[in-house]
Amino acid sequence: MRSLGVSLLFIAGASAIVDKFNNNLVFRSPYFDEPQFGHDTVALSRRTLEFAKRDQVPADGFKDGKYPGFYVSNLSNAPFIWSSGVNFTHSVASGDPYDTSVILWTRAVPLPSSTGQLPDQSVPICVVYKVFTKSDLSGRPVDSGEAFTSYDVDWTVKVEAARLKPDTKYYFQFADCANPSGVSPVGSTRTVASSNTPADKVNGGKPMTLAVFSCSQYQAGYFNAYGYAAQNVTADIFIHLGDYIYESVGNGAKIGRAVEGRELATIHDYRQRLGQYRSDLDLQYAHQTAPWVVDDHEIADNAWKAGTADSNDTAQGCTFSPSGACFTDRKLAGTRAYHEWMPIRQLDARDQLRIWRNFQVGKLFDLSMLDTRQYERDITDIYYNRLIASLKDAPQRSLMGHNQEKWLLDTLSKSKDRKAVWRIIGQQIVFTQVVDLSGGINLDAWDGYRANRNRILDHLYNNQINNNIILAGDSHANWVSDLAHANDTINYDSATGRGAIGVEFAGTGVTSSSGTFVKGNLTDSIAVSTKYVNNNIDLQWNEGFFRGFFTLTLDSSVLNATYYSMRNVTYRNLDGFASAHFTVKAGENRLSRPVAGGKVLSGALKYPSN
Ligand SMILES: *[C@@H]1O[C@H](CO)[C@@H](O)[C@H](O)[C@H]1NC(C)=O
Ligand SMILES: *[C@@H]1O[C@H](CO)[C@@H](O)[C@H](O)[C@H]1NC(C)=O
Ligand SMILES: *[C@@H]1O[C@H](CO)[C@@H](O)[C@H](O)[C@H]1NC(C)=O
Ligand SMILES: *[C@@H]1O[C@H](CO)[C@@H](O)[C@H](O)[C@H]1NC(C)=O
Ligand SMILES: *[C@@H]1O[C@H](CO)[C@@H](O)[C@H](O)[C@H]1NC(C)=O
Ligand SMILES: *[C@@H]1O[C@H](CO)[C@@H](O)[C@H](O)[C@H]1NC(C)=O
Ligand SMILES: *[C@@H]1O[C@H](CO)[C@@H](O)[C@H](O)[C@H]1NC(C)=O
Ligand SMILES: *[C@@H]1O[C@H](CO)[C@@H](O)[C@H](O)[C@H]1NC(C)=O
Repeated sequence: MRSLGVSLLFIAGASAIVDKFNNNLVFRSPYFDEPQFGHDTVALSRRTLEFAKRDQVPADGFKDGKYPGFYVSNLSNAPFIWSSGVNFTHSVASGDPYDTSVILWTRAVPLPSSTGQLPDQSVPICVVYKVFTKSDLSGRPVDSGEAFTSYDVDWTVKVEAARLKPDTKYYFQFADCANPSGVSPVGSTRTVASSNTPADKVNGGKPMTLAVFSCSQYQAGYFNAYGYAAQNVTADIFIHLGDYIYESVGNGAKIGRAVEGRELATIHDYRQRLGQYRSDLDLQYAHQTAPWVVDDHEIADNAWKAGTADSNDTAQGCTFSPSGACFTDRKLAGTRAYHEWMPIRQLDARDQLRIWRNFQVGKLFDLSMLDTRQYERDITDIYYNRLIASLKDAPQRSLMGHNQEKWLLDTLSKSKDRKAVWRIIGQQIVFTQVVDLSGGINLDAWDGYRANRNRILDHLYNNQINNNIILAGDSHANWVSDLAHANDTINYDSATGRGAIGVEFAGTGVTSSSGTFVKGNLTDSIAVSTKYVNNNIDLQWNEGFFRGFFTLTLDSSVLNATYYSMRNVTYRNLDGFASAHFTVKAGENRLSRPVAGGKVLSGALKYPSN
């Protein structure tokens, strides 16, 4: 215990410090209200004060082998924070836009002192954030604040900019509190319309565009799709449906994309990988230009609630794990790093893994983001457990877990009740049945969890919930389908779309390749797609040759989807083209006919017009 006098001296400062640690939402990650899993910011503030005391001891007499770099600068002006400069190493990002607030993100790393001494890692960094309505940052900031970061959270910063106006574009910047001229790049972001805004007034009456991505493997190619979406297409919100990072190492050396580190297991591994991915300039730029809504905690390949294909925990423990780390440890490390690096909100103090969440964008649409990977998913295909095939129809088997499933069904009903025009469900894996060319199905997709899929479809049909749009990633190919019960040729008509209850738009990867579609041979790849559309009733278009992304542009009467193909991801470029364009009219619950106007620039339509 310190003497009373010293304590009193620090009381005012201590609470101010705790506030600034708390302003950085990253310290709550991944479990706020659970200090044993998150960060105890009161203890961090105490540590900061303890360390700051060293500044009041003459340098020459100070012996502390643990903190050799401490006396690198004069901290008297700002005794608790680093004052020798900050490097905003990974630009800025924003995400999870509400009507009056949005999450802002940056990373602020201490720079060495002018004498070249390495920074004292134990001193926190203070950043100030300011939000403006003008791109030149003129005028008074509409919101601002200060937050601390430290090595405990990999120097990441995540704040909630509040007091914003609905449906408005904003510009923001971070600066070093100690040296206000040390600034981050300027980011742009936006809020969405308030939930009661009439559908035709959302986005100032103009259609809104969502750009949708998945499967971005660093070593497989350059993130041209992100650059193209940010520079050649205007999108209001970027959505990522999972496989934002890959946990494996792979071989990207020959295109200059070698991955650092190893198969991810520890907090250091996950941070290093996220940091390397985010060094990609196209990804950085895409984060800098628009708010993102992201999905999946990115733990490991084919993850389910208690394991993964790569972790291999068994009844014998973690002895088979290539990393030597048990799955539970990986899951905690992966989740924590994800919340540090991604501009995502934390929603529920008591539900530690919850990232499923809903965005009400006026009465135009609800965007419901699911977690079909980590939350409470029953065991999936981990390649050697083929008995899963016999479980695919088990009624109790769940992909989402009870809480999330109930929440989704309620959210869909509420969305109908509040008279939102569209219901968009963002999730990881392909929903519609896809029987492959040898008659098999992908047990890691919804095809492995058929009862869960039927419960969702039944809920939509039985309650006459219309205008449902499901988004999916994961498969490294494009699949566009009417939404109906698998193999239902009585109620659903594949030629007209009669009897469907919506549409699924599943997208290819940003870079991850698909061998199935005959890499490098366009003709053969289209032949494969032709077989797929002929073999699968609901599937109207399939394409697997190009990497890319798609956009949804919607107003109160029409939702269009445009698929973009990137010509070459083996080097950095912005060479892309729109390969197919689909229309869904409000109230029709199916793709408009002729599907894609009967004409696409790649892949195969079930009913092409000649
Ligand atoms: C540190 O800065 C304070 C305030 O500017 C000044 O009074 C003090 O002399 C400085 N100390 C050293 C060692 O430069
Ligand atoms: C700041 O960080 C970037 C990205 O890691 C790095 O390339 C650059 O060299 C750093 N700048 C300084 C001054 O250290
Ligand atoms: C996991 O364990 C199974 C069963 O022992 C084995 O066949 C498989 O190769 C292991 N996988 C890994 C990635 O260690
Ligand atoms: C639909 O039919 C195909 C082909 O007969 C079969 O493989 C698949 O299991 C069926 N799907 C369902 C949900 O019964
Ligand atoms: C694609 O493969 C077919 C044979 O399956 C071959 O005839 C054709 O030349 C190949 N095209 C290219 C561009 O390699
Ligand atoms: C949808 O696409 C059609 C034709 O391609 C176009 O006429 C219409 O304006 C688009 N609507 C929206 C909301 O993008
Ligand atoms: C992609 O670009 C690389 C590097 O310029 C080139 O070698 C390769 O042939 C290109 N691939 C295609 C399909 O054009
Ligand atoms: C995308 O935009 C960039 C400039 O921002 C331009 O250089 C490039 O040619 C555009 N790509 C296409 C395919 O139009």
